[in-house]
Amino acid sequence: MNILGRQALVLWAFWTLAMLLVSATTAQLRNIMYFCGQHPTVPDSLLNSPVTHVIMAFMNSSIFNREDPSSDWPLFMTVKETRAQFVPGTKIMVAIGGWGDTAGFSFAAATDEGRRRWARNVAAMLRDTGADGVDIDWEYPGGNGEDYKQVPNEHKAWEIGAYPLLVAEIRMAIGHDKLISVAVPGLPRDMLPFTAETLPTIMESVDFLNVMTYEMMNRRDTITKHHAGKVASRESLNNYIKNGVRPGDLNLGFAFYTKFYRTEHYTCLQSPIGCSTLLMEDPKTGVDMGRTGAFAWVDEVPAEIQVSFSKALREGQYDEVGGGYYYWDADQDLWWSHETPASIEDKFGLVRELGLGGVFAWELGADGPEYSRLAVLNAAVGGSRGKKDEL
Ligand SMILES: *[C@@H]1O[C@H](CO)[C@@H](O)[C@H](O)[C@H]1NC(C)=O
Repeated sequence: MNILGRQALVLWAFWTLAMLLVSATTAQLRNIMYFCGQHPTVPDSLLNSPVTHVIMAFMNSSIFNREDPSSDWPLFMTVKETRAQFVPGTKIMVAIGGWGDTAGFSFAAATDEGRRRWARNVAAMLRDTGADGVDIDWEYPGGNGEDYKQVPNEHKAWEIGAYPLLVAEIRMAIGHDKLISVAVPGLPRDMLPFTAETLPTIMESVDFLNVMTYEMMNRRDTITKHHAGKVASRESLNNYIKNGVRPGDLNLGFAFYTKFYRTEHYTCLQSPIGCSTLLMEDPKTGVDMGRTGAFAWVDEVPAEIQVSFSKALREGQYDEVGGGYYYWDADQDLWWSHETPASIEDKFGLVRELGLGGVFAWELGADGPEYSRLAVLNAAVGGSRGKKDEL
């Protein structure tokens, strides 16, 4: 080879390397919106254009256990109708399960035959609906679900081993052209099946995890916290990374709704963050005692808390320590916790800090009619795309 040839080769090698680096750093962040039957509204195309994936929620986990072939897949809207409302190229996925819907998963996971049948039906559903993938929302394999007082976790311990087998069956059935995502818990106490032992195997079958970094204060808690706070979210993502998940396979969760909780009076008067709540869950039955609730931005505010909610909007503060927007109402002893456009911008910093693959929100229509949170999230995703392109 002559000098010129060698120079050309060296140049070519540098060029290839540079291109590889560029493509690695310009990987588009995922911007995923859950889309659900309670608020099936889509904002105009300007707002939804940076959305990369839409996950329609939910199909019932039990329908995938049936033996007879059927092309009836009940959902609040068809995949085709949904696809037509988003920018061409947006991935439309279908979520199966959701809070409280564990029976169908459990039944399927129990046997080899059950897992194969369930996976085969998922493949049929994707084929019949034209969806681009499936989101598995089993809350949660191994226990701590809605029924954890009726069916103790010991009785579900076997699900932890069966779960990676189920997702492997789904991958085998649907192939590599379709997507599989999994909605996973934000709180360490619920990560029963998502350990350093299981996660590497699970990730062999799954494209990405949606880490539910919200509802991190729920009726099982006894002190006030930020339900979607930045510090707790960081801890949550780090737990998945520590357990072997590539940061690029993780999406950070945002909540497009507010939550309120009834608290004690005097302890909270002294210091509202970390003070005692009233008992929110029946310790015997696990039933919700009606002392906490949630509503979307688009929802009508329940009459008895309208005054308190306006105060929360007017006088709430951002806690720089925990990274969350809050308000404690001393008149009604109510703790409010939600994400604001400004707090979303701050929490989004975790994407770059940890090298995450993207973000998602529960759920698109909940942010209407103004979509101010969606706008911030879209701008943050778009902005970081621009920055990466400059490298
Ligand atoms: C799912 O379907 C099963 C079986 O038909 C039913 O018992 C259950 O209530 C359904 N769950 C939900 C969340 O709709």
